[in-house]
Amino acid sequence: AVIHDQKLVRGEGGELHQIAHGSVPPLTTAQGGPVSDDQNSLKIGSRGPTVLEDFHFREKIFHFDHERIPERVVHARGYGAHGYFETYESLAEYTRADIFQRAGEKTPAFVRFSTVAGSKGSVDLARDVRGFAVKLYTQEGNWDIVGNNIPVFFIQDAIKFPDMVHAVKEEPDRAFPQAQSAHDNFWDFISLTPESMHMIMWVMSDRAIPRSFRFMEGFGVHTFRMVNAKDESTFVKFHWKPKLGLQSVAWNEAVKINGADPDFHRRDLWESIQAGNFPEWELQVQLFDQDFADSFDFDVLDATKLIPEEILSPIPVGRLVLDRMPDNFFAETEQVAFMTQNVPPGIDFSNDPLLQGRNFSYLDTQLKRLGGPNFTHIPINAPKCPFHHFQQDGHMAMRNPVGRVNYQPNSFGEGPRESPQRGFRSFAETEQGPKQRIRAESFADHYSQARHFYISQTPPEQGHIAAALIFELSKVQTAAIRERMVSHLINIDEGLAKKVGDGLGLKAMPKPAEAAIATRQDLAA
Ligand code: HEM
Repeated sequence: AVIHDQKLVRGEGGELHQIAHGSVPPLTTAQGGPVSDDQNSLKIGSRGPTVLEDFHFREKIFHFDHERIPERVVHARGYGAHGYFETYESLAEYTRADIFQRAGEKTPAFVRFSTVAGSKGSVDLARDVRGFAVKLYTQEGNWDIVGNNIPVFFIQDAIKFPDMVHAVKEEPDRAFPQAQSAHDNFWDFISLTPESMHMIMWVMSDRAIPRSFRFMEGFGVHTFRMVNAKDESTFVKFHWKPKLGLQSVAWNEAVKINGADPDFHRRDLWESIQAGNFPEWELQVQLFDQDFADSFDFDVLDATKLIPEEILSPIPVGRLVLDRMPDNFFAETEQVAFMTQNVPPGIDFSNDPLLQGRNFSYLDTQLKRLGGPNFTHIPINAPKCPFHHFQQDGHMAMRNPVGRVNYQPNSFGEGPRESPQRGFRSFAETEQGPKQRIRAESFADHYSQARHFYISQTPPEQGHIAAALIFELSKVQTAAIRERMVSHLINIDEGLAKKVGDGLGLKAMPKPAEAAIATRQDLAA
């Protein structure tokens, strides 16, 4: 509301001062000292130099100078909202996770949607993957499902992530493109990374230009485990299904929207939640055992593959409702720290080499992004269940152990103790084999699921994929990269390859992409 009851005072230079009065509190420094004048720095005389003694000026400028923190190294542009997750039925048969024990239980949640490649100030409707990161504040600790709106990924092993991200982001000499994938470096890397072909089909499809966050699916991507009270494991894949269904915009609409309103997606989420139209997703799970996993030609540990829903129907297990915007974008949406390693007892990892790497990466990057080891003390990241540990000190420590004892075991009867029954126990998978840098042969088929995705699309959707590939690759200046991409497309669908080849004006179609010239064993021999 606009305040009309103002006490406005004019200063010597004609500047206006708003004066505290009645219920309007005095402005203070961060140390709590009341401020007499916030319009003028402390000077010698009325036109003289500003003095170093002006602690109010120094504190105010110092704080402003440090307002920016590093943007996320990926997924920099994002928008979040609060809500809750409601469990439909007990899943105790599969998992001992507390969140799945009681029908109707509501768990507080925070979700951040994002683009991947663009910087914090880029546009919402870039052709890009969308992050779909969910933090569930369960009674046994925070559980983060750090997913995307596409069920597969570009690479199979986390060791390739820095290369992939360097290639997709702006080129280091020219600092563009800032938000989209149409450039030589990106397509160079992709064309030399056949495992990315399935993901590329999704990224060239309408999925990569969603109408709004409310019309997107979300996927945990990796195979995880559910572990029950008897320590039995079931593999699980997580899917978020939007109640409003799936909708995208067409590419020419995306281009216009980006020009007219680069905040189109965040404005949509803000306005719908403020109007009481709370977006909702159903959590569905694909559950399967080792025998089922072994029945496929592909590997369920390979994040470039999905388990078709026609083969294994996802089961609805709960719903997620977003009903409140953050009070402060920076405090909540910017400072929230999602990490795949945050799982409660009863949820566990698989050996997916992408997931294993992510479990290191998020903690590591957040140490830097959020300025030290105590970012769990920031309210948006703190658990909402009771928690007790002996971690202490470090930058910005706000919750040090109270009393004498900050270690265990101890003889003073003070502090928390281990709990073998309730605590997290890793699933005792048996592992054996030589230590080596290798990828399993079961990861080697890069084209079948790309083809399945393409042929599952309707003719207009297939047309959009072809048009996107022609548009993107026509921006690539290096002819060899364009041809290499077409040679992969031949292995996916010859009709698609022909269309793209013609669209790019290739004089002759290249040969289909082959496996490399020799195997590594040949070279070693
Ligand atoms: C950020 C998803 C693979 C490293 C994010 C975010 C999402 C996401 C949704 C944004 C989180 C937020 O809103 O704050 C995924 C998915 C992946 C994947 C679905 C594959 C299935 C990887 C890999 C790595 C990685 C392989 C590294 C080895 C990061 C980093 C951030 C990030 C460093 C920034 C986190 C931060 O600054 O807080 N990822 N990611 N991601 N991801 Fe991933």
